[in-house]
Amino acid sequence: MSGLQGYTTEDILSELQRRYDCLSKPTGHYIFMGAPGSGKGTQSLALKDSHCYCHISTGDMLRSAISKNDPVGLEAKKYMDKGELVPDNVVIKLVENNINSPQCSRGFILDGFPRTNAQAKGLSDMLASIGKKIHGVFLFECSDAEIEKRITGRLVHAPSGRVYHKIFKPPKTPMKDDITNEPLIQRKDDTFEVVRTRLGAYRTQTAPLISYYDGLGLLHRLDASKPEKEVRSGIESIIVKTGDSPQ
Ligand code: AP5
Repeated sequence: MSGLQGYTTEDILSELQRRYDCLSKPTGHYIFMGAPGSGKGTQSLALKDSHCYCHISTGDMLRSAISKNDPVGLEAKKYMDKGELVPDNVVIKLVENNINSPQCSRGFILDGFPRTNAQAKGLSDMLASIGKKIHGVFLFECSDAEIEKRITGRLVHAPSGRVYHKIFKPPKTPMKDDITNEPLIQRKDDTFEVVRTRLGAYRTQTAPLISYYDGLGLLHRLDASKPEKEVRSGIESIIVKTGDSPQ
């Protein structure tokens, strides 16, 4: 919520209540890793809401740059449309610009970053420079068949990043966002063909990071094929054990 104009008193009070409730939750810095469509974005938004962490999604930042036609977006689009990874230097810079912002004071979720060895090294350097550490890495595990069903049925509210699914999580009004009533879209890279390339990129370039974070004792495997609420309670129970006590 930014600026109070256009909000009812009930909206404002419920926002205050949400922020107050966050004060009793642990703080921490987490990475969400997993194949496309495994549910990282869905769980990030829930945790952003319940724990007041900031959500740093390189995919959302790149799509926002594309929609503004800025140079980073124009460069990234060439790769994203094909399902390939955007060059490391581009995404590292995006994360660097956001990771130490005031909105991240209670913690952050890195959704879809790092995705290569070079990005993991970039992250480690930036955390060292600001004196922060990673509290845990959640690995969302899900079968390819489930991923294809999820991705090809996904609907997105582009301005907020809210995600729906035609069957598993339909919006109240077809093709409209539940909160703003604005139109929902299907992502251009959410086709069978592009998903296969994205899965390939995940296996060859991102999956090697699993053993890296496991070796650091940070990895937590999640059965991401379970219903949304069960996945969420699994994440929350690990945050209780790994996060810092609220101050
Ligand atoms: P990005 O936007 O990060 O996409 P992704 O990693 O491929 O992940 P998705 O957003 O597709 O899926 P998700 O895991 O968030 O699933 P969601 O919660 O939406 O990246 C896109 C592109 O940008 C990349 O291909 C690359 O080109 C570029 N890029 C981004 N980061 C980069 C980086 N670091 N380096 C280089 N390039 C980068 O869920 C999917 C669907 O399933 C939804 O419909 C949802 O409602 C449903 N669903 C979720 N959970 C459940 C559940 N438990 N049960 C049933 N349905 C569920």
